[in-house]
Order: sequence, then structure tokens, then C-alpha cells
Amino acid sequence: MKQSTLHQLKVFEAVARHNSFTRAAEELFLTQPTVSMQVKQLTKAVGMPLFDQVGKRLYLTQAGEELVKTCREVFEKLDQFEMTIADLKGLKQGRLRLAVITTAKYFVPRLLGPFCKRYPGIDVSLQVTNHEHILNRLNENLDDLYVMSQLPDSIEVTYKRILDNPLVVLAPANHPLAQEKNIPIERIAAEPFIMREPGSGTRKAVQSLFDEHKLSLKVQLDLGSNEAIKQAIAGGLGISILSLHTIALEGPISQLAVLDAQHFPIERYWYAIYPNGKQLSIVARTFLDYLLTEGKQVAEQTSGRKVSQSGFSGQEQNC
Ligand code: PGA
Repeated sequence: MKQSTLHQLKVFEAVARHNSFTRAAEELFLTQPTVSMQVKQLTKAVGMPLFDQVGKRLYLTQAGEELVKTCREVFEKLDQFEMTIADLKGLKQGRLRLAVITTAKYFVPRLLGPFCKRYPGIDVSLQVTNHEHILNRLNENLDDLYVMSQLPDSIEVTYKRILDNPLVVLAPANHPLAQEKNIPIERIAAEPFIMREPGSGTRKAVQSLFDEHKLSLKVQLDLGSNEAIKQAIAGGLGISILSLHTIALEGPISQLAVLDAQHFPIERYWYAIYPNGKQLSIVARTFLDYLLTEGKQVAEQTSGRKVSQSGFSGQEQNC
């Protein structure tokens, strides 16, 4: 293994993450034969196969799985070392890898603007995906920090509550229910409904509220994006339940209305999360501190509403 290069480990990790030589080559701007060659040399150095190929699909062998874990630990340590050196030089430099649930895309990019201006040496990568995919990334320790609405139960994490994330019922502005007050939940269940895709945290929260009331929704359509759902509501396909933040940028002549319904909003919160025991890099720690202080003001401007007293908590908690 001592003969293997860091480059080979990077190539191998990319192949394992994408489950594909072609996509790894694309990501690394290499040719496919170069990628295959690097993995072949690494396999020789390990002395055991790293992948099994069944038909067109690649599967990591046990040795491959172990090597992926090792690669990620090595890369993380190297990143931390680089950041420590930058910090010693009085610079905030390095990489910040964030992964956030879809609704958090309505405020995290806004927060990044001022942050990146203040620390131009920090490179940020932001993954926006649904709850289930965030859990997978968390399990694989792919990012520095995560923003999600529901704390994971499969893995122990340290978390901070950062902002309210209420889920509200949205209908077309000209819908008859838009004029009513205190609408019973049974009437919401009777309307044609547009649901988020399986794996979505929003979907899970909606389903548990209706299960609690022993009601089933009349789901007409599953859509994998909040924006697509908003368009479908405006197009008259049905009503839906989404984070209030998804309509923060809608102007006064919005085509959507928030219904005044019983048991709504569903109170949820965004949490900044990282796995217990993970040593946050200097850059990630700086971003977390920023999120909990100045981030609050930016978030309030973005969402157009005051963050509740308990919305931001400076205390770190484990679960
Ligand atoms: P989602 O995330 O994109 O998975 O629905 C939102 C949430 O969990 O609140």
C-alpha cells in the first residue's frame, strides 16, 4: 500500500461513491481508461479485488468497503491539517461541505453570500437533497455539516436548533377555502392533494399528522420538488403542504394562498447537525458560529418573519 498514491485513493473513492468508472472520470476530468488503470494499480497494491462487477453494476467488496472508509478518514485528516495551517497563518481557508434538505435551500444560500465575502479563502460545496438522501450522506460521513428538520434515529448526532420551519397548507389564491377560517382537517383531506416524493421529510411529517387523525389524503400526484409542487398548485392540480419558507419570495400578488386550517402549521425546526465524535474543522466551526449569530438576522430577512425566542439556540445538544 505504501506504493499507492493519494491520487489513486482519490480516484478509487470517486468510483466507489458514484458506483461508476465513467462518472468518476467525469468528476475528476480524467479519461475512463486512466481511471480504470489507477484502480487496477491500487487493487494490485492491496492484493485483493476492490470491486465485483455483476452485469453492468459495480459492487464494493469487503476490502473495497474498508478502503473507502480509510480514504475518507485520510482525506478528512488532510483537510483538517490544511485548515489548521491556514489558521496558524491567520487565514480562514479550506473547504466547507454542506448538505441541506430541500426546504433549507430557501435560506442557506442567502447566508452563504455574506459568509463567503468575509472569508474569500473558503470553498463551499452545497448539496441540496431530501431527508433520506441526507441520512445516507450522514451515514457515509460525506459532509462537514447538515441542515435537516428531523433528527436522525439511526446515528448519534450533535445538533443545534437554528430556525422555525412551519409546514402550511397551500392552495391556489382563488380556491374557495382561501376565504375560510379555522378549516377542519377533514376538509383538507377531502381536497385533491399533491405529495412530495417518498424519502421526503415533508411527506413523512404530513403523513404522520393525517395518520394521527385517521384520515387518508386524496393524493393525485407525487412530485420530487417544492417548486414543481408550487407550480402544480397554481395550475389547479390540487393543494399541498409545504414549508412556509418555500413561499418567502412570493410577492403580494402570489398565485398561492396559505389556508387557515386546524392543526396547522405543523411546527418543525431546522437543525444544524454533525455526527457525534466528529471533530469539526475550523472552517465548519466558523460557519456554525456564524449560522447561530449573524445567520439569524439574514434568515429573518429571508423568511420575512421573526424567529421565535427558542428558534436559535446557542447550546449544543447530543442525541
Ligand atoms: P424534504 O425536507 O426535502 O426531505 O421534504 C424537508 C424536511 O424534512 O422538513
